Amino acid sequence: MNSLEYAKSLDSQDNLSDIRELFYIPKKNNIKTTYLCGHSLGLQPKKTADFINQELSDWKNLGVLGHFNGTNPWYPYHEFLNKQSANIVGALEEEVVVMNSLTVNLHLLLTSFYRPDKNKNKIIIDTPCFPSDRYAINSHIKNNNLDIDKTLIELKSLDGKSVIEDSSIIEQIDKYGNETQLILISAVNYYNGQYYDIESISKKAKEYNCVLGLDLAHAAGNVKLFLHDWDIDFAVWCGYKYLNGGPGAPGSAFINNKHLNDIGIKRLEGWWGHDKKTRFDLLDKFSPSKTAESWQLSNPPILSMAALWSSLDIFEKVGMTPITLKSIKLTSYLYTLLNNIEGIDILTPRNPDKRGAQLSVRLKNFDKKIYSTLIESGYICDHRSPDILRIAPAPLYNSFEDIFNFSQFLRSLIND
Ligand SMILES: Cc1ncc(COP(=O)(O)O)c(C=O)c1O
Repeated sequence: MNSLEYAKSLDSQDNLSDIRELFYIPKKNNIKTTYLCGHSLGLQPKKTADFINQELSDWKNLGVLGHFNGTNPWYPYHEFLNKQSANIVGALEEEVVVMNSLTVNLHLLLTSFYRPDKNKNKIIIDTPCFPSDRYAINSHIKNNNLDIDKTLIELKSLDGKSVIEDSSIIEQIDKYGNETQLILISAVNYYNGQYYDIESISKKAKEYNCVLGLDLAHAAGNVKLFLHDWDIDFAVWCGYKYLNGGPGAPGSAFINNKHLNDIGIKRLEGWWGHDKKTRFDLLDKFSPSKTAESWQLSNPPILSMAALWSSLDIFEKVGMTPITLKSIKLTSYLYTLLNNIEGIDILTPRNPDKRGAQLSVRLKNFDKKIYSTLIESGYICDHRSPDILRIAPAPLYNSFEDIFNFSQFLRSLIND
């Protein structure tokens, strides 16, 4: 397995290998880099500029009339993206809205779904928890005049293991479920790449009448998700990682359709959440749309939506099943090659059902020079303090050859 010929033979059998041509691969010294950072910022589809230029052209030629008469009218523009995004996360179209950014959406949905009372007010999170999620949660705890230390329950790995066993999550929900109002889990953990058993967690959460929310920053476009069938209450994600929507791309939100007709739900209101049929009657009373769009506040940023759309289009054409099948092969290959390098400890589970594309590896005797040499030499991954490298082959544009070259280079740096 450890030869360039073998990697090339895997590429020749890969029926998605042509999709790489739809993306720009960044170059260093005029040579294509080995880009394994799709978990942080996905690459630019070659069609992105066309998608944006189309809207610039309609703006130039139509001005305000582009809202209704544009090639892709701006008034319903986000709807094109909602549908494609819903397919990626296993949701109904009415349950998904592309809007804002992840943390903003998390705040909007915590406003609606965190409803603490005297007996049921705790929030369970997985750890390591991405700081922005923690800040968002803590601010809602504080805004409800509760004490963070007494309200937040952090799921931790046991026995110093790098991942949290699903069984331990279930046990903790059994232990704290009666006092817990909301559980927020990052379906794929940003630090160690673990993909939790979300379906079982959801079933257990329901036993205790807890709301289950998901942060899908590292899961959307990476792993198969069935948000509707798993009965998830809400979810939020960003558009710039595996979804390749560009830096700061619009985020998205999922709200299970069982909550869409809850007229009593607490919500922050804005005119774009108003029922579309009467939105321009400019009524004083807010009448929410009957879909997840009722959480929208403002009219969407069309130019950034256009960039995201150019990538969602590729997802739609290829389909999540072939994408994840290739992802499993790519990352399993990476796992095998890295596992054979002395001085590396892989934190991410080996089992493909328990992870997505990303592998997080701890380098024994970590030296920052290893990371800087990787980057300088065009091997793009990222570093998380203190001694972790996150490496993620994205099935849309990475090849088996990328994996082989990266592993060889890392091995040589460690041996040196
Ligand atoms: C797991 C996770 N949650 C939340 C965020 C915050 O995203 P945003 O800046 O889009 O709000 C990130 C960003 O990388 C993330 O990785």
